[in-house]
Amino acid sequence: MQQIIITTPDDWHLHFRDGDMLGETVPATARCFARAIVMPNLVPPVVNAKLANEYKARILAARPQGSNFEPLMTLFLTNQTTKQDIIDAKNSGVIAAKLYPAGATTNSAQAVSGIEALYPVFEEMQIQGLLLLVHGEVTESHVDIFDRERVFIDQYMAKIVQAFPELKIVFEHITTSDAAEFVLSSAGNVAATITPQHLLLNRNDLLVGGIKPHNYCLPVLKRSSHQQALRKVVASGSNKFFLGTDSAPHAKHAKENACGCAGCYSAWSALELYTQVFDELDALDKLEGFASFHGADFYGLPRNTGTVRLDKKSWTVPESVILPSGEPIVPFFAGQTVNWEINHA
Ligand code: NCD
Ligand code: ZN
Ligand code: ZN
Repeated sequence: MQQIIITTPDDWHLHFRDGDMLGETVPATARCFARAIVMPNLVPPVVNAKLANEYKARILAARPQGSNFEPLMTLFLTNQTTKQDIIDAKNSGVIAAKLYPAGATTNSAQAVSGIEALYPVFEEMQIQGLLLLVHGEVTESHVDIFDRERVFIDQYMAKIVQAFPELKIVFEHITTSDAAEFVLSSAGNVAATITPQHLLLNRNDLLVGGIKPHNYCLPVLKRSSHQQALRKVVASGSNKFFLGTDSAPHAKHAKENACGCAGCYSAWSALELYTQVFDELDALDKLEGFASFHGADFYGLPRNTGTVRLDKKSWTVPESVILPSGEPIVPFFAGQTVNWEINHA
């Protein structure tokens, strides 16, 4: 196939950041996605409805002229989050809350320790119909970084799922066959997002022939057998899996650093790279479900009505992009060839 037209997709997991960075990140996502679930891990984090609405207004102000892009706002759960915070969030249009185990990832120092302490909050989310989005990794220092997602399933995820059968839960950016199997074997209230990097790459792409800091993200890339398991579930067309880029910009100096930040800035190529993966898997007929239907259906939101066209045409991701601050950032897949291109005509 040389061309494919799909319903306009949504990005069910990404990081816009804040301030002048929005001038880069919002147009990059709005170029092809109609909506996006905006992660709340700002500094300080988005912990209540007021902060979420102020953040939303800043995102809307950064949209390109004429764009109808819609940010979908989320709350950052902490040990101080109350039931009232959930009720207020629901009433002001926030649709989900994000569970980061404290210290698991970028800007999560203020997040949750002792996840069971949040059960009353999950209870209220279940009542209010707010989704629970989970960064599923344990943070105990003795647990090997490559095992942290699998251990999280046994220690926390399975218990949360069992305790809240009516709570919609998204296992974010899954990276292992264990997580894929867990989601597949769970009831209909459990789903997962999958990033382009975890479909395209494995840990060799991070560590062989020199460390590649721009492929470093969390959860960290896993061995090839896990990558293959993720490719298999998306090719199956299962409606439990949907697009979430986890586009997570960090300036070049923060990535190319003795203590480099985790996150791949994929907004400029993500939809094209997903298309490439589905093409490689001979499963282009499953792309639209993954990119445009499964997420909206799971969230209980209407599917988009527009379309985007992708052409089988090679282009090269730029080596770097200049942020509004003047700093360079290296986009995901920089300098590499992508086989599909969005047609903006
Ligand atoms: C994300 C970020 O930079 O905010 N980084 C990442 O490696 N994925 C945080 C996250 O999604 O865990
Ligand atoms: Zn995360
Ligand atoms: Zn993320």
